[in-house]
Amino acid sequence: MTNQEPAVLNKMMPEFQKSSVRIKNPTRVEETLCGLIKGGAAKLQIITDFDMTLSRFSYKGKRCPTSHNIIDNCKLVTDECRKKLLQLKEQYYAIEVNPGLTVEEKYPHMVEWYSKSHSLIVEQGIPKAKIKEIVEESDVMLKEGYEDFFDKLKQYNIPVFIFSAGIGDVLEEVLRQAGVYHPNIKVVSNFMDFDENGILKGFKGELIHVFNKHDGALKNTDYFIQLKDNSNIILLGDSEGDLKMADGVANVEHILKIGYLNDKVDELLEKYMDSYDIVLVKEESLEVANSILQKIL
Ligand code: TMP
Ligand code: MG
Repeated sequence: MTNQEPAVLNKMMPEFQKSSVRIKNPTRVEETLCGLIKGGAAKLQIITDFDMTLSRFSYKGKRCPTSHNIIDNCKLVTDECRKKLLQLKEQYYAIEVNPGLTVEEKYPHMVEWYSKSHSLIVEQGIPKAKIKEIVEESDVMLKEGYEDFFDKLKQYNIPVFIFSAGIGDVLEEVLRQAGVYHPNIKVVSNFMDFDENGILKGFKGELIHVFNKHDGALKNTDYFIQLKDNSNIILLGDSEGDLKMADGVANVEHILKIGYLNDKVDELLEKYMDSYDIVLVKEESLEVANSILQKIL
């Protein structure tokens, strides 16, 4: 924490004292929190990324899989294909988090990554019926405190928009197996398209990648118009592209942007602190979000 020491943040919310919590403008955060608290459940909605935001980045020093990696690592994918997918990840993930490149510069590389990666995955002819088992056998983990997070949001019927450049079928299954895929959740992501025999043949609709969430958000205006009275937003993300997830919201009164900074911390911290209201450095829990929900609901 820098500058002043606002009362709500420090006195009422000890979770904010953790060294992983970085806030550039505590006064603004405090004002936004007060707005969110005042609006209560009736005005609230959540807009969140999935991979490395709701799911863990690492556990006991080992990297956890993204929804794509759950497929990459599964036993139905040949070793040769897996090798190619991991090579692509190495090459393009480095671009995704390269602090020296602008989003505009990264953008075409992400499109290239997704098209190559999706073609390889489709070649493997994965059966829809196997997704459950693939997820069960994976190392995916949701962030600590996910039960409280999803249960509280369900209890108060708060709309949750999960906006992911991952694979929709996989992340839905992760939520289902964790017992938290409640009816208040809407998932917008890349959904698999299966043929009449239930074999993967492609992906449905327009591609969502890490840096086109602005366009995706604007395609979901119907959802956000329905929620025009939910003008208070908590946005959770881990990438610079995630900042655009609320671009389709019809009516914004207060928005609190919480960003997980998982990687390249030294190089990216300033940029993240300039754009996210609260930055959580190498944080593997939903504690801060839960403490905020506790105050609002
Ligand atoms: P998210 O929007 O839910 O965070 O999902 C996007 C993440 O998936 C992003 O960090 C890039 C990652 N990804 C892979 O891990 N493997 C892939 O093959 C592709 C295309 C993306
Ligand atoms: Mg992410």
